[in-house]
Amino acid sequence: MSEPKVWARKSTFIFAAAGSAIGLGNIWKFPYMVGENGGGAFVLVYLICVLLIGLPVMMSETIVGKYSHGNAIDAISKTAKRSNASQWWKGTAVLSMVVIFVILSFYSVIAGWAVDYTYNFAIGEFSGKNADQVGKFFGDLLADPKRLIIWHSVFMFLTAIIIARGAQEGIEKSLGIMMPLLFIILIAVVGYSMFATGKFSETINYMFSADFSKITPMVIIKAMGQAFFSLSLGMCVIMTYAAYMRKDVSITESSLYVTGLDTIMALLAGLAIFPIVFANGMNTGSGPGLLFVTLSTAFAQLGVIGTVLGMAFFFLVIIAALSSSISLVEPFVKWCEEHFGINRVVTTFTYCFAVWAFGLITIYSFNDWSVVEFMGTEDKPLLGIGKSPFDVLDFFASSVFLPLGGLLVSLYVGWAMDKEISREQLFTLSGFFFSLWLVVMRFVVPVLICLVFVSSILGEAKTVEIIEQVTNYFH
Ligand code: PHE
Repeated sequence: MSEPKVWARKSTFIFAAAGSAIGLGNIWKFPYMVGENGGGAFVLVYLICVLLIGLPVMMSETIVGKYSHGNAIDAISKTAKRSNASQWWKGTAVLSMVVIFVILSFYSVIAGWAVDYTYNFAIGEFSGKNADQVGKFFGDLLADPKRLIIWHSVFMFLTAIIIARGAQEGIEKSLGIMMPLLFIILIAVVGYSMFATGKFSETINYMFSADFSKITPMVIIKAMGQAFFSLSLGMCVIMTYAAYMRKDVSITESSLYVTGLDTIMALLAGLAIFPIVFANGMNTGSGPGLLFVTLSTAFAQLGVIGTVLGMAFFFLVIIAALSSSISLVEPFVKWCEEHFGINRVVTTFTYCFAVWAFGLITIYSFNDWSVVEFMGTEDKPLLGIGKSPFDVLDFFASSVFLPLGGLLVSLYVGWAMDKEISREQLFTLSGFFFSLWLVVMRFVVPVLICLVFVSSILGEAKTVEIIEQVTNYFH
């Protein structure tokens, strides 16, 4: 058998997994979720979820990948064989491949918005615009399929080029440039926010002092879903990258680094954005428009500095999204390459083209198809979930299949897989911490994920009702 393909440098797994984890989830989603869900209360619950669920699940995916040195489907097959477990567990990875295809198709469209913003900041288009005008700019972008298709194509093409070049030449080399750049730009914007706005202490207070009355069951559930999305868990993405991990690298240490870096970047994004929002007397609870309307209006009011900051900031969003999107392509390409021996370049471009075409559904969701009412009625459109096909895709991919993937991984590694595999792989952990990890994987993680899962299917009101009934019963 040939030597397994591994990263050239010891630190690359950390870079690659952190690159996958740090993305739109940190810079776009996290701040607006903090803003919508009670500031410090959300941050506190999020941090607990990352530590209690995110870290142990990240270690589990890494164990399977590193043990087998292969694509996710074969990795599960190989560990299952050694554990005398059913080969049906491979279904977990197969399901992931389908879901990441869908996630990438809309991820790329949203990343495309950032490409459009970077370009328009660069040409001074935003200069002096007020909130209404920036809101209109955003609305016009969403209403224009041609513009959306151009940027979506540019983004998918960049992703394909990196992946086609291979793990070492493409992923490893590009990350060596992208990750430090990401960090530098974010620190620069935080630096500006810290010294120039005078709102830094207000932000610290907002983000880090928790008002416990704001911690509702729904806040806990949303924070957990966000932890999964942000850490790229449950999708066999981390498993795929772990396959390239060198033998001498510690899984525990690497997982701690990746989880830590992802969390730091999310917090830094908050520290970069909120002072600017506060300084302009704007509302933190503006939802998905926080970056594309609220923050952009603030930049637009800052003259030349705003133009530079806006350009740098959205460029940062592009890089963060790109280092995540490549991780959404690699699992399928690696599988085709290893399992069927198909040429990497051919698979990459065919796959990316298919994702691109599927992405058109998202693009038209924002304009021509936005109120498609098939499968629904006027007041309860599309299965009662949302008003466009994109809402439905996003709901099923992020809120249903991501927790489901996480649940399957935790059941597989916790219960089905031979625990000797984990024991060998977690060679740096002491006996006590290993047992702790196993208990968390077997009991804590599945129960908590089931909560997220049930809640996302039943919706907010119903879940709160059930939780209240259960708590009353125990009182
Ligand atoms: N973690 C990425 C982000 O925060 C998104 C992602 C999800 C990537 C799932 C891979 C798998 O943007």
